[in-house]
Amino acid sequence: MRNRVEVMHGVNLDQLGRRDPEHYGGLTLEELELQISGAASELELEVRFFQTNHEGRFVEHLHRLAGLADGIVLNPGAWTHYSYAIRDALELTRLPAVEVHLSDVDAREEWRRHSVITDLCLTRISGKGPRGYRDALECLREELGR
Ligand code: DQA
Repeated sequence: MRNRVEVMHGVNLDQLGRRDPEHYGGLTLEELELQISGAASELELEVRFFQTNHEGRFVEHLHRLAGLADGIVLNPGAWTHYSYAIRDALELTRLPAVEVHLSDVDAREEWRRHSVITDLCLTRISGKGPRGYRDALECLREELGR
């Protein structure tokens, strides 16, 4: 059964709840993950979560995903905009992935518009808040033929 989705949060996302609510809303990461879990069970997907503030750990987690996940939802935070290491590791997984940002990265500073992973992903969802994660799961579900 291809229904295992790894939801990966990168740098500073553990600080949700303290970050600018105008961009990121008021949920803590724990609350956000609860919502994502709820959406996943409605969609009959199995989710696992991972968050780190260490780029190498994020990379190594991607290295280990083969055989453990069928798809990835990732919000690498600021790494999105410049980490070729994460890009290369994501490519190595050969798994379908969806890029998610809580805030509308295209409507903020110029440097946030650029992502080094978008072309490896099925789609990029940005500016929809927590709802974006549900949309990402729906997209992966379709891709996984479920
Ligand atoms: C973010 C957007 C990034 O530009 C920022 O560095 C983050 C979070 C988002 O979810 O909107 O940390 O990925």
